[in-house]
Amino acid sequence: MASLEDLIPTVNRLQDVMYASGIDTLDLPVLAVIGSQSSGKSSILETLVGKDFLPRGTGIVTRRPLVLQLNNISHKNSLLLDSDAENEKDSSQDAAAPEEKEWGEFLHLPGKKFYDFDEIRHEIEQETARIAGKNKGISKIPINLKVFSPHVLNLTLVDLPGITKVPIGEQPLDIERQIKNLLLDYIATPNCLILAVSPANVDLVNSESLKLAKEVDPQGKRTIGVITKLDLMDSGTNAMDILLGKVYPLELGFVGIVNRSQQDIQLNVSVKQALENEDHYFQRHPVYRTIANRCGTRYLAKLLNKTLMAHIRDKLPDIKTKVNMLINQTEKDLLSFGTVNGLLDKKENKAGLILQLMNKFATNFISAIDGNASNI
Ligand code: GDP
Ligand code: NA
Ligand code: MG
Repeated sequence: MASLEDLIPTVNRLQDVMYASGIDTLDLPVLAVIGSQSSGKSSILETLVGKDFLPRGTGIVTRRPLVLQLNNISHKNSLLLDSDAENEKDSSQDAAAPEEKEWGEFLHLPGKKFYDFDEIRHEIEQETARIAGKNKGISKIPINLKVFSPHVLNLTLVDLPGITKVPIGEQPLDIERQIKNLLLDYIATPNCLILAVSPANVDLVNSESLKLAKEVDPQGKRTIGVITKLDLMDSGTNAMDILLGKVYPLELGFVGIVNRSQQDIQLNVSVKQALENEDHYFQRHPVYRTIANRCGTRYLAKLLNKTLMAHIRDKLPDIKTKVNMLINQTEKDLLSFGTVNGLLDKKENKAGLILQLMNKFATNFISAIDGNASNI
């Protein structure tokens, strides 16, 4: 039985099938994270996952798109859910070896489970260098990583290279345009929700992410604004007007965030501790405390999950039509293989498998729509 909660995992699986079959025409809903270099994109993703697992360093670190599928493997105990759920977990689950219940899998290494998130970081670094070279080059070819954990909400996010102006290392002179084109590849498709990150210590008028988002979403219908580094604003100033939507119009609004600082990272402050610090920051802040329940990474995770589900729900009729067309096409392909001779060759097997999977997902989509269309 498919429910709304199953929508994101279902789309994730559909994405895998499409990827495996080399079909790239579905434009499935995703959430892409854009922003200038060092604006805090990777920090947000690590907090959403609840783990340190992304490569770190100065300058350009994210050099290939990272398609990150977060899969919740039990709806209880999310770090990002209410602190009540957290407390329950502390009393009942501690003995159950939580490490073993969280792992990552790369599409380029099928069947291999990574329980050690430092190894995930290492693999991302290796894979980045393998395709994009060792010296600051970028590549459009994505790395696909799935994370399974009881501490995440179902989400599909794409981490993208940061917008930069000045070429370094082997970067070509037109690096800024190249990176922007890469980002546009993702965010120009109407099914992409844009998470536009802007640091609070830079004037919003100069936000590279909002400028780029505006090119493809001029009415601000599918862009979510994220303001990071609120803790680094000049004393006596605050971003309240921005967070209340009075400065820049976005239908989905702005969320304020305080990630770990460079010093926190050097002091090995854990993601969990960082989330608590962030909550305290907003609850105790003289200005932000009035909107504390709409600030921070916990809130952002819920907003993204809800928005992505609503977005997928709206796109289901479209997706269904396209899946049905693909099914028909695959059936025709299968028939034409069949006329060559009676033997099952590899190609035929693969097409048959894809067809089976697509049929299964088409069925899931239909029950998801029929059962839940008015439910969200
Ligand atoms: P990215 O290049 O956009 O992925 O940015 P990172 O997430 O790697 O962050 C760049 C640097 O800014 C790191 O040293 C982070 O610790 C720091 N940073 C990110 N967000 C915040 C924040 O909200 N507050 C503070 N104080 N530092 C932050
Ligand atoms: Na930006
Ligand atoms: Mg980054």
